[in-house]
Amino acid sequence: MILRTEDLTMQFGGVTAVDAFNLRVPEGEIISIIGPNGAGKTTVFNMITGTYAPTKGKIFFGDKDITAKNPSQITKAGIARTFQNIRLFKDLTVFENVIIAKHLHLKSNWLQSMFRISGLPSWLSPYPAEEQRFQEETEELLEKLELSDQKDAVSSSLPYGRQRRLEIARALATQPKLLLLDEPAAGMNPQETQELSSFIERLRGEFNLTILLIEHHMDLVMDISKHIYVMEFGLNIAEGAPTEIQENPKVIEAYLGSDD
Ligand SMILES: Nc1ncnc2c1ncn2[C@@H]1O[C@H](COP(=O)(O)OP(=O)(O)OP(=O)(O)O)[C@@H](O)[C@H]1O
Ligand SMILES: [Mg+2]
Repeated sequence: MILRTEDLTMQFGGVTAVDAFNLRVPEGEIISIIGPNGAGKTTVFNMITGTYAPTKGKIFFGDKDITAKNPSQITKAGIARTFQNIRLFKDLTVFENVIIAKHLHLKSNWLQSMFRISGLPSWLSPYPAEEQRFQEETEELLEKLELSDQKDAVSSSLPYGRQRRLEIARALATQPKLLLLDEPAAGMNPQETQELSSFIERLRGEFNLTILLIEHHMDLVMDISKHIYVMEFGLNIAEGAPTEIQENPKVIEAYLGSDD
């Protein structure tokens, strides 16, 4: 297991957003979490990535206890995420968005990040060799994700599906082993959603990733998941292979019934 939680619990005041969740993510697989709005899915991601410290329970990454580490420690350990609502530097180019992700998350020296963000030329960087390496890695990453053609475009000018892809590029810039995708198909049209399915599969292979996915598009989830966890009101009400989940009466009642 690359990721494992033990009785992971998050309470906000009187609300138990996540209730004793036991998640198992085998290395190299695509595992999904589904469930109605407010079920607690994003809160699970927020605990794994250190945004929230769990009220109770533990999180293990490999054999390392990462419970309540801060987001920067989590990134350095090898976990990256995307957000339900796209988070990009809207006025910056595709290339800048990716290279800044490297600077913000992989640098021990904040000064160098500031050099980059303030738009100073790279030869002014206090660490030109590293800057050079970041630039090359960014070029290579954009090439692999088929974003090279748009590398100088301002990110807000991209079509929505491309912005989602750029968000994934930013996550991959930190060279994670485990990638958490929070509703990557949200706002996409049917064609973009369909392309996303093979894109995620390709990512897993090319970057040796394990992927944990939150998604509402059932076609996508059923198509690519090895195993699915279903949450409702903070509880894990079912888990299993896609075919088992589709036939599970509890799931149909909680979720699939209302949607499909
Ligand atoms: N920071 C917070 N403070 C208080 N309550 C919160 C906070 N974050 C989440 N919650 C509550 O926790 C519950 C779970 O929210 P969460 O965002 O994890 O749901 P979700 O399954 O991701 O839903 P969606 O499909 O709508 O994204 C909700 O009742 C939500 O209002
Ligand atoms: Mg959510």
